[in-house]
Amino acid sequence: MKLDFSSVWQYWPFLYHGALLTLKITLICTVLGFILGTLLSLLKLTKCKPLVWIANFYTSIFRGTPLLVQLCIIHFGIPQLIGITFTTTQSGILTFSLNSAAYVSEILRGGIVGVDKGQYEASMSLGVGYKDMMKDIIFPQAIRSILPGLVNEGISLLKESSILSYIGAVELLRAADQITVLTFRFFEPYLVIALIYYVMVMILTLFANRLERWLNRSDRV
Ligand code: ARG
Repeated sequence: MKLDFSSVWQYWPFLYHGALLTLKITLICTVLGFILGTLLSLLKLTKCKPLVWIANFYTSIFRGTPLLVQLCIIHFGIPQLIGITFTTTQSGILTFSLNSAAYVSEILRGGIVGVDKGQYEASMSLGVGYKDMMKDIIFPQAIRSILPGLVNEGISLLKESSILSYIGAVELLRAADQITVLTFRFFEPYLVIALIYYVMVMILTLFANRLERWLNRSDRV
């Protein structure tokens, strides 16, 4: 069978809008997931045991169940329970941010715990307060070592956003589905979106490598 990409190009606005939604959701969830994940990681590092348990329980639930099932519970289940409905984009943003927070909190906790003990001791002996120590000394060092983990998280979110097609959000995968229905071609639309995902991941990776180099350079001065 011959390949025919012209039928895909004919519907490029579908792909364009799909890619925009994919990007928008990924960006919002990366930021929200990071903020929520930071709070969660701080809870995990407190001395108050109940807070630590709550944060650990949260993480184990969101890491221990499939993302798709979480999405279905939030999009179809919760509305039935409390009587409000979410758009597919809202459900996506909510689910992905909550899920990502669980992963980010573990990445961050690992990074914070991994900062050399001497840094804590030196800050204490210099009389730096806990808040300033975390903000100015521990966190900047932790960020550098967890950057690859955070980038992985962003990449995961980008690719996992394709499961939003399951609830009917017209992101990139759903856009390709629509093209297959209209053109009866399957290989070309899916190949094209695979390429688009790949290019987006590569751009993210490139950007992250630059950031990493910049952080390492600013470390030396
Ligand atoms: N496929 C995995 C799941 O269903 C993805 C989890 C999301 N991963 C992430 N890093 N936020 O559990």
